Amino acid sequence: MQQGIDQAARHILETNDKGGFTVPTSGLYPYQWNWDSVFVALGFAQFDPARACREIETLFEAQWDDGFVPHIIFRRDDPDYFPGPSFWQAGAKLPSSGITQPPVAATAIRMLRDTTADTAVRERIDALFKPVLEWHRWFMRYRVPESCGAVVITHPWESGRDNSPEWDAAAANIDVSQVGPYTRRDLAHADADMRPTKLDYDRYVALVEFGRDTGWDHGAIATGGPFRVADVGMTMILLRAMRDLIALAEATGHSDDIDELESYVVRLNRGVEYLWNAESDTFCSRDTITGAHSGFVTSASFLYAYADAGTPEQRAKMAAHWHRISSRVEYMVPSHDPDDVLFDHRRYWRGPVWIVVNYMIAIGFREQGLDDWADRVRSDSQRMIREHGFSEAFSPLDAGGTGGTNFSWTAAMWLAWCGQGS
Ligand code: DGY
Repeated sequence: MQQGIDQAARHILETNDKGGFTVPTSGLYPYQWNWDSVFVALGFAQFDPARACREIETLFEAQWDDGFVPHIIFRRDDPDYFPGPSFWQAGAKLPSSGITQPPVAATAIRMLRDTTADTAVRERIDALFKPVLEWHRWFMRYRVPESCGAVVITHPWESGRDNSPEWDAAAANIDVSQVGPYTRRDLAHADADMRPTKLDYDRYVALVEFGRDTGWDHGAIATGGPFRVADVGMTMILLRAMRDLIALAEATGHSDDIDELESYVVRLNRGVEYLWNAESDTFCSRDTITGAHSGFVTSASFLYAYADAGTPEQRAKMAAHWHRISSRVEYMVPSHDPDDVLFDHRRYWRGPVWIVVNYMIAIGFREQGLDDWADRVRSDSQRMIREHGFSEAFSPLDAGGTGGTNFSWTAAMWLAWCGQGS
């Protein structure tokens, strides 16, 4: 049984491998996605470290001169996906989107480096230090203002948590009156009740049009864009990645960069404070235009442990949320608070469990000595996959698969984490 699941997971990665890069799943997502690739690399590392390294190298092939790394790389035009390259009109060396995604690369590269004995692969991993450093600098220049210290996203897609209720209030201010007709392709591949709504999509399209009209000028988008929300997920992920990059700098002889990186850690820690909402007693996202907190407890809130963030008092409040939520759902960790009216156990980031987020949450809990919580996250993840296969995401109530199937990052997480020794 175990061997069968391991083989099935490996088969998904090999089938979705399009030659140096892996698509998240065929049909629904036919290109290379930024954070998907990084998690997928951790899966490949279990049986082919050189291929794992290649996945991250191909991601950075699309890096722009200013350090920016896009969230999608379009190596060809595929009618299965909207919006494609002709809509984005972005890219430097390769056609791409003009927005980014959660910066998990430094953390994964550090893990790959620590676990590979192959010196040739190690040299290639070390060569990724500078490109990742440039990407982090890009974040600090354009997306982490001194005023708040948190990572400010300019499109919900950048968060990776596309339709989280965290964006609803800020997105309501996006003008969709000029959005022309377009045809969604996602609904040909997944049930409409598992996907974002038409209004969500109108807003996504309006934001792409805004960025495109600036010629993808990230400075202009950061200061004048209609959607600028400090994202709790991105902030926790970048804070952790910054520390992992410091460790990589030490290990690879880049000690000259360490002072700069430490100053970024200080700024991001201020960002964590900016994201604490004393009313809801949680870390959550915050609209930088209005100053309003979302007030929601999401799975991203629990990334405080992964980022080693928060005071003892804040951690105690998060513990109360953990106990409340874990008694409400069968499978942890729901992407949205099950006690909130907007919770929807099947709709994308409004309730379903995402295995990659569980992975990061479990790493954080383990590091903080919260072993019971880490064990619960891991065993729930394992059960969901055993019971329902390699879905994109899972209902926290009944583990029913939601979204796409044969999903690369779910398979990768089985191999690299929750399926190990099961
Ligand atoms: C989509 O198309 O649903 C993606 O999540 C955008 O990144």
